[in-house]
Amino acid sequence: MVARIRAVVRDGHKIVSSVIASQIETHKHFGGVVPELASREHLDKIVPIVEEAFDSGKIQTNEIDGIAVTVGPGLVGSLLVGVSYAKAMAFALQKPLVGVNHIEGHVYSVAFENPPVRYPAIALIVSGGHSNLFFVPEPGKYKVLARTRDDAAGEAFDKVAKMMGLGYPGGPIIEQLAREGNPRAVKFSLPRMGDGSADFSFSGLKTAVTKHVRESGLQPVRNGEEPGQAIKDLAASFQNMVVRSLVETTERVAASYHPQTLIVAGGVACNGALREASRQAAERLGVPVYFPSPHLSTDNAAMIAAAGTVKLQAGERAGFDLNADVTLRLQNVDNDDDALRKAKVRYRL
Ligand code: KG4
Ligand code: ZN
Repeated sequence: MVARIRAVVRDGHKIVSSVIASQIETHKHFGGVVPELASREHLDKIVPIVEEAFDSGKIQTNEIDGIAVTVGPGLVGSLLVGVSYAKAMAFALQKPLVGVNHIEGHVYSVAFENPPVRYPAIALIVSGGHSNLFFVPEPGKYKVLARTRDDAAGEAFDKVAKMMGLGYPGGPIIEQLAREGNPRAVKFSLPRMGDGSADFSFSGLKTAVTKHVRESGLQPVRNGEEPGQAIKDLAASFQNMVVRSLVETTERVAASYHPQTLIVAGGVACNGALREASRQAAERLGVPVYFPSPHLSTDNAAMIAAAGTVKLQAGERAGFDLNADVTLRLQNVDNDDDALRKAKVRYRL
């Protein structure tokens, strides 16, 4: 999802203010995000939104310790607006600046409402742009255990909703309809990689939904029409498969990494069925599972400030040559990394 967001956070886990100006109204007519419109709205709104974040938190600009800004991954226009503004602000206020990976922000979104994360942790980050499973041996260290080979989980929800004539974003609408549907009504097979890897794949499931719609003669919902039982059953069956794919993979992989905490975050973590299945998996694994509440699951600036605080406290500083990186990866642990080696020794991985 694309939103104009700014926040002020204290000590990395207390929200002083968090302003989210959603762009859903702009993009919903197109059934997805239009990059050009997204960056224009960022540009229009960045000044008033930053002012609002300071005003609503009753805090002066000179009272902050530093500035954290998302540097990627994402849409280039929107990222550049944020990075340029943050650099100008850091220069004008003479405050330290730090760049944050958007996905790492989602990992830190659990910092506000849960006990401190114990490491090593496993983090499932599922949003409209990403579906990643990470091993986090210690704060700030990430090893990708699984990623999506095609669509992100949220993207699959959005595309299937569009196909069924439902609105945007599709996730919340499908979840709502699925509550009155039978998850076993339409038989889909569980997406699995042929090569034995733990990676996710949702495009096959999306094609199976298209095929089902075509072969069953199901009519997409027209504007304002009440969805019938067949649509509700399809929504429930599709959601069930996405949830099973995410949670069964997470549980299987987590079992061999002996985590102390399971983190499930990102826009799709709003989904009640995913939360319930994750809770059950965590119980079987014997570890606590932490979720952000829904308003911190979808994109927000508080999570970027939380991740930025950790970096600032570790002495990290960005220069004025900081730039947006559209394809930025969150992977800084390789197989012979010290953090992974220590976790292996300690937890006999
Ligand atoms: O994290 P997010 O706000 O933006 C990205 O970084 O992409 O995630 C937005 C995604 C959308 O694809 C939306 O359909 C999905 O999260 N989403 C959900 C639910 N609420 C939002 N998916 C499934 N069930 C939900 N309740
Ligand atoms: Zn996100």
